[in-house]
Amino acid sequence: MHDGMVDFKAEARAQIAALPIEAVDPAQPQLFAADAFWPIFERLRAESPVHFTDSPTYGPFWSIALWDDIMAVDSNHQVFSSADGIALSTLEAKAQNEKRGTRPSFISMDPPRHDEQRKTVSPVVAPSNLQVMGPLIRERAGKILDSLPIGVEFDWVEHVSKDLTAMTLATLFDFPQEDRGLLPYWSDIMTNSPGHGPVTSWEQKREVLDQMVGRFIGLWNDRVNAPPAGDLISMLAHGASTRDMDRAEYAGNLGLLIIGGNDTTRNTISGSVYALNKHPAEYAKLKADPSLIPSMVSETIRWQTPLTHMMRTATQDFEMRGKTIRKGDRVVMWYVSGNRDPAALEDPEAYRIDRERPRHHMSFGFGIHRCVGNRLAELQLTIIWEEIMKRFPTIELAGEPTRTHSIFIKGYETLPVVIPTRN
Ligand code: HEM
Repeated sequence: MHDGMVDFKAEARAQIAALPIEAVDPAQPQLFAADAFWPIFERLRAESPVHFTDSPTYGPFWSIALWDDIMAVDSNHQVFSSADGIALSTLEAKAQNEKRGTRPSFISMDPPRHDEQRKTVSPVVAPSNLQVMGPLIRERAGKILDSLPIGVEFDWVEHVSKDLTAMTLATLFDFPQEDRGLLPYWSDIMTNSPGHGPVTSWEQKREVLDQMVGRFIGLWNDRVNAPPAGDLISMLAHGASTRDMDRAEYAGNLGLLIIGGNDTTRNTISGSVYALNKHPAEYAKLKADPSLIPSMVSETIRWQTPLTHMMRTATQDFEMRGKTIRKGDRVVMWYVSGNRDPAALEDPEAYRIDRERPRHHMSFGFGIHRCVGNRLAELQLTIIWEEIMKRFPTIELAGEPTRTHSIFIKGYETLPVVIPTRN
């Protein structure tokens, strides 16, 4: 299986190398699932950093592959709008949305609405609230780690990454902890298309999401009739710019917070175990000096790049590196490529946990949409690693992971590990 994967990767590299540059197409989920997509971006960065593709599955779009150009697009929201969606979706998914209606959220809005709604929810992830959440996350992380089996293979994604991020998210929403498993389930429903993850058909996807919305409307009704509190739903229900939002917009913002607060952090927790195992010298450095945990966390967020891209739509014609992006064209900023751009980062292919500027990466984006939860994500990862190091001398990979079949979410479905002993 492992050798087969290596062969597939070598084969994919040879095939990508043989293509004329115009035919290089980054929107291929099967290559992301096999971790075989890297040569595409090596070619785009070198030969076609502003690159046009007319994909049979995703339709026409531009790819932006270099750090500086991604920064230029991400910081120019007047020309590059978020209002027509922020992830490159398939033509089929687009048609489904048009038929059944989309659920807007502030990540897919431009100013001034974006700014007002962002301001309403940001206090939940402000430093003062994180100070309150820190001890709760630590206690929960400890409980999860104490319940893990020793000397027996288990799935790290299911037992640690998913559960810890679900607990944190349930705290953010003040959602019943006993039902927290629903949150990653809904997240997987939202991010997958039929045939992948837990999604079996468009109808089933819609039904489950309607149930999710029903559940959250119940919570909204409870909170709106109670005094304002520090959880996200109460903040939305009482906030001046959000209390009148319609059902679709409420659902959209919840979806954003569930995916934003869940998948990305979950996949970085899994990514950290995988990366440290694949780079034993770095794992040894960490064991010798646990004060490196925060910089290891940032390096893992760069190395993993849990969201491969964000998309924008041009509001006017725009010239970039001699190419003309036309008004209405979709523009994909490939963070996964910017994070490997040697013009912006020293030795970007290396996983190095003691980089001088570990937060110098694009995984959280730039500009007005820069991730609102970035400090919360770092906090969760830092705490879990502090708690891991207290308990276990090592966590060992017991096989290769299976990866997400997606051009957007870069993550792990499963990650088999063994913990040989406790400290
Ligand atoms: C390692 C973990 C995370 C990564 C890699 C990540 C990545 C991102 C990225 C790339 C963006 C868009 C940036 C742009 O367009 O310039 C974003 C926005 C956002 N993220 Fe995160 N995120 C993470 C964790 C979180 C957490 C824990 C939360 C929850 C509280 C969260 C909530 C959001 C929200 C609400 C937005 C929309 C911000 C806006 O449009 O103004 N994220 N995130």
